Amino acid sequence: MSGFAAHLVLLLLVLVSVSLSPSVRCLGKERTLAMIKPDGVSGNYTEEIKRLIVEAGFNIVKEKLTQLDKEAASAFYDEHSSRSFFPHLVSYMTSGPVVVMVLEKGDAVSDWRGLIGPTDAQKAKISHPHSIRALCGKDSQRNCVHGSDSTSSAEREIHFFFKDVVSGDIASQHDEL
Ligand SMILES: *[C@@H]1O[C@H](CO)[C@@H](O)[C@H](O)[C@H]1NC(C)=O
Repeated sequence: MSGFAAHLVLLLLVLVSVSLSPSVRCLGKERTLAMIKPDGVSGNYTEEIKRLIVEAGFNIVKEKLTQLDKEAASAFYDEHSSRSFFPHLVSYMTSGPVVVMVLEKGDAVSDWRGLIGPTDAQKAKISHPHSIRALCGKDSQRNCVHGSDSTSSAEREIHFFFKDVVSGDIASQHDEL
């Protein structure tokens, strides 16, 4: 194949793959769900956190302020429903409004987890003093922010809050469940 034909085939492949997955992971971008928990919102950390998000190179694709009720908080944390801390987690998460955002960049899931720091905010203050949890978290539950722990969790959590956001190849696998 001539160099020109090879380039043409490559261009067609790129066009086809982009059109098949429109808002998805084109150009290596990934999406994750970020949440500013009630203590973060009531503590006036929303603007500061958003500044750190943008500074770290994320694009905030969607954002909304919402109040979780008991049913929604229980459904969101369903995987923890048998744990002893669950009732406390639900009452904390429903204690005030939260800000949920869809963040986009390459490696969004792990990069957002890196930016927020360890789950236990007390430990974060020592080991990751520049992390968001060190900035505004209090302990391992009231830790100010949430981040999806995997691409499949991100898929589920984005759909939980933003039913209209298409997030791509991962979505198409899980839509069949
Ligand atoms: C809230 O935070 C912003 C910056 O993030 C600051 O400019 C403002 O003064 C704060 N407001 C209060 C009431 O602390």
